[in-house]
Amino acid sequence: MAMESPFKADILKGKVALLTGGGSGIGYELSYQLGKHGASIAIMGRRRDVLDSAVDSVRSHGIPAVGLEGDVRKREDAIRVLESTIKHFGRLDILVNAAAGNFLIPAEDLSPNGFRTVIDIDSVGTFTMCHEALKYLKKGGPGKDPSNGGTIINISATLHYTATWYQIHVSAAKAAVDSITRSLALEWGTDYDIRVNGIAPGPIEDTAGLSKLLPEEIVNKAREAQPLYKFGEKWDIAMAALYLVSDAGKYVNGTTLVVDGGLWLSSARN
Ligand code: HXC
Repeated sequence: MAMESPFKADILKGKVALLTGGGSGIGYELSYQLGKHGASIAIMGRRRDVLDSAVDSVRSHGIPAVGLEGDVRKREDAIRVLESTIKHFGRLDILVNAAAGNFLIPAEDLSPNGFRTVIDIDSVGTFTMCHEALKYLKKGGPGKDPSNGGTIINISATLHYTATWYQIHVSAAKAAVDSITRSLALEWGTDYDIRVNGIAPGPIEDTAGLSKLLPEEIVNKAREAQPLYKFGEKWDIAMAALYLVSDAGKYVNGTTLVVDGGLWLSSARN
């Protein structure tokens, strides 16, 4: 159910956003909504077909968009994709780290390489993208005035606030992501006027997160346990992102905004 945005359509006019994992799921909704509010959109992803269809779809709404193939685990891909973004749009104002890997598995069956793979995508990938984007995002960077920098959103989770069955790898990875958010907010907020925040979605309908992690038969049961008696929508995450990246959030730095209807509060008793 697509709801109308409560934000004005031009709040991101003239801005350029790069989204990793922006071709599908929550990442796609973020691409679309940032674009609908005035930003030009660069989408980074591993799969050409997913990128192509995402870019077609975003463009069909009149949003300038480009799809750039790359894997956040490869530093050279990060550098190339950022250079292409600047070549296409001349500047970078918003980086969204939405690329993630996940699967359900008991810790005793997870190989160290499986653990490392998710850390590489979620945590190291987030750091790599931020690190390589710094020169474009900082105040005085391409297209920026000398006192205003850009902003970063890291997509996280609430799994690690308590402990979550069969998610040791993702819990560790997202704990690191939250820590990266705070450290960069401190260092880069002070030095470069870059705000760095996170969003921790709860269970969101129509996403890989939900279908992979919550088998069909327990979805209805889980629904009953929701404090707000419903799952979230991708739209909810996009509205949180609009708040954080626009001037509405100009004094918000280093926080990870939980958008889960209050669900994690009840997870310690499960
Ligand atoms: C056990 C697995 C596994 C699985 C991979 N591995 N999949 N182990 N169960 N289902 C192990 C492999 O055995 C291997 O270790 C290591 O991980 C690397 O596997 P590869 O297949 O080579 O990795 P790769 O092709 O790079 O795939 C990455 C991936 C994959 C993360 C494993 O699942 C992926 O990219 N998925 C698409 C993205 C995705 O899932 N997005 C959903 C995000 S949802 P060995 O030891 O054998 O070499 C999300 C929500 C989080 O993030 C919060 C929810 C609330």
